[in-house]
Amino acid sequence: MDLHQLKANGLSLHEVLHRPSRKRRTLEELLADVHESFGCLPAPAVGELSRLCNCTTDEVRRAAYVQRVQILDAGCVLNPKTRVITVCRGNSCHRADGRRILDTVKEVLGCQPGDATRDGRFQLECAECLDYCEAGPAMAVDREVHTELTPKEVRRILAQIR
Ligand code: FES
Repeated sequence: MDLHQLKANGLSLHEVLHRPSRKRRTLEELLADVHESFGCLPAPAVGELSRLCNCTTDEVRRAAYVQRVQILDAGCVLNPKTRVITVCRGNSCHRADGRRILDTVKEVLGCQPGDATRDGRFQLECAECLDYCEAGPAMAVDREVHTELTPKEVRRILAQIR
């Protein structure tokens, strides 16, 4: 997706990210600027932020989570009803069999991390940590974190919001 084509409030995503500034903006500042214009972080900006800030895309996603900025697929940018499902793939959750949680979410939603469902109602994301390491595996639905999950519990949660 061309960052010039994604626009909100008269500004393209490219203009927001490359706005002239006296000092180099940090990842947190750039995220705040994108959030202010778009009300979310359009998924195509993740790679660009990673490049601009010389960090990994996981670090961008993690910072977005900490700053409570939803990452949305380009096709869902204008859909504020999109629910963001964030599955933790951090070490603690991984040791608690978190892989099965991600596999279950992928199966139920029918999409891969970083993608939205066909109907645009759900966006699947992964995080390096949701700060519930003692109670993993963990998954968030928007900002509500569910812990000590099993595949059965994940199916129940997703069935409730579908
Ligand atoms: S590793 Fe999953 S919540 Fe921290």
